[in-house]
Amino acid sequence: RSNNTVMSAVRSESTSTCPVLTKFQKDCATPTPFLRVIANAIAGDMQAGLAVHGGGDLEMILTYVDALPSGKEEGLFYALDLGGTNFRVRSVQLGGEEERVVATKSDQLSIPQTLMIGTSEELFGFIASKLAEFVAKEEPGRFPLEQGRKREIGFTFSFPVNQTSIDSGTLIKWTKGFNVSGMQGKNVVACLNEAMEAHGLDMRVSALVNDGVGTLAGARYWDKDVMAGVILGTGTNACYVEQKNAIPKLQNKSSSSGTTIINTEWGGFSKCLPRTSFDQEMDKESLNPGEHLYEKMISGMYLGELVRRVLLHMCKTSDLFGQSVPAKLATPLALKSQDLCKIQEDNTDDLSSVGSILYNIFEIKADLKARRRVVDVCDTVVKRGGRLAGAGIVAILERIERETKRMASGQRTVVAMDGALYEKYPQYRQYMQDALVELLGHDLASHVEIKHTKDVSGLGAALLAATNSIY
Ligand code: GLC
Repeated sequence: RSNNTVMSAVRSESTSTCPVLTKFQKDCATPTPFLRVIANAIAGDMQAGLAVHGGGDLEMILTYVDALPSGKEEGLFYALDLGGTNFRVRSVQLGGEEERVVATKSDQLSIPQTLMIGTSEELFGFIASKLAEFVAKEEPGRFPLEQGRKREIGFTFSFPVNQTSIDSGTLIKWTKGFNVSGMQGKNVVACLNEAMEAHGLDMRVSALVNDGVGTLAGARYWDKDVMAGVILGTGTNACYVEQKNAIPKLQNKSSSSGTTIINTEWGGFSKCLPRTSFDQEMDKESLNPGEHLYEKMISGMYLGELVRRVLLHMCKTSDLFGQSVPAKLATPLALKSQDLCKIQEDNTDDLSSVGSILYNIFEIKADLKARRRVVDVCDTVVKRGGRLAGAGIVAILERIERETKRMASGQRTVVAMDGALYEKYPQYRQYMQDALVELLGHDLASHVEIKHTKDVSGLGAALLAATNSIY
């Protein structure tokens, strides 16, 4: 018997003797017909959100991005990127159609945890000070600043924003572990402007964009077939090209021809999801209870925490790791999605690296049976997450197809993808891809390309600043 057959035989044996695991696996199952129901429900909420503001779980935000980059953009532009664990500043020198990106420089810093839950003055003060440091280091480039002209910024702000124009919008709510006080309903660009002024920076935000929009715009610069931008990282989201005449809630009917970008905020989807008691408890204790439930099942911030909660319960109800419950297993957020990935990478007979990971994080000495169960829990959570994400992508692709019939006519259709979960987790990627093919069918799926476009959202934001430059 091959190693794989032996492993799966042993695995099913270990599973059958653990009722908690068996039940968990059953509750997390996502067979194809069930995924179809989910994809249709997402599509239904997309339609409802396009019809009226607040019509469905998905915000379906109008981004005011009607023109995607053409390649002709020229000049020096900046990008600020705030939205996850990192904050980035970038300068981009655009040389037009022939030369494209002449030069780009960037700085990246992690956002101190305290700023994620502090005040808006602290957060934006920090951003402005880092931006000031970056600009101060600048060398004269190909595009010197003309007299009276401000430096223009594309600001990628990866949270749900009620966009009022291309360069302004108010925060709807925080997600992904951010909870900065007093900002809900406030104009995020005004907050940044105030902080920049306080730091003596004379810069102007020309485009305020979501990371999904930035990814779509940045990827489209290089590839005309890009129709959607999807993020699978700390959080998750999808933005796509929509026909204006298919958006009933669009106010300005005079410009209802052509296309525009919709930011779905699909993380907020909540219907018919296979949520277990572990999902419910994790949600209850999160910073945004009751919100972004789909995100909590598929994105990087939550997968490790879910596994930890299941393991803790298994420990309490059986002798998974011996008689007592290891103290560190009770620490929230102790297990990261990177750890799950390493656990699933281990293909040794005795799962030795699973053993050392468990020891390093939780000080647990796990025997082979326990290690196998840990692998099974990880796989269950990751499989469910990847497949649910696949169902979401199908809902987006089918919406695009309904309006354009591109795939049916054999046209290549590209989903630009970014985020560490997608990038670094092969099993997650595979589960997502499987679901996509199961739901779309081989024929349509053969025209779809999921293209990993790492870190293009900054470029996208700078390009949109160029497109919307006031000069
Ligand atoms: C969260 C935010 C959303 C963002 C996504 C990915 O879902 O609400 O705006 O695009 O994370 O970063």
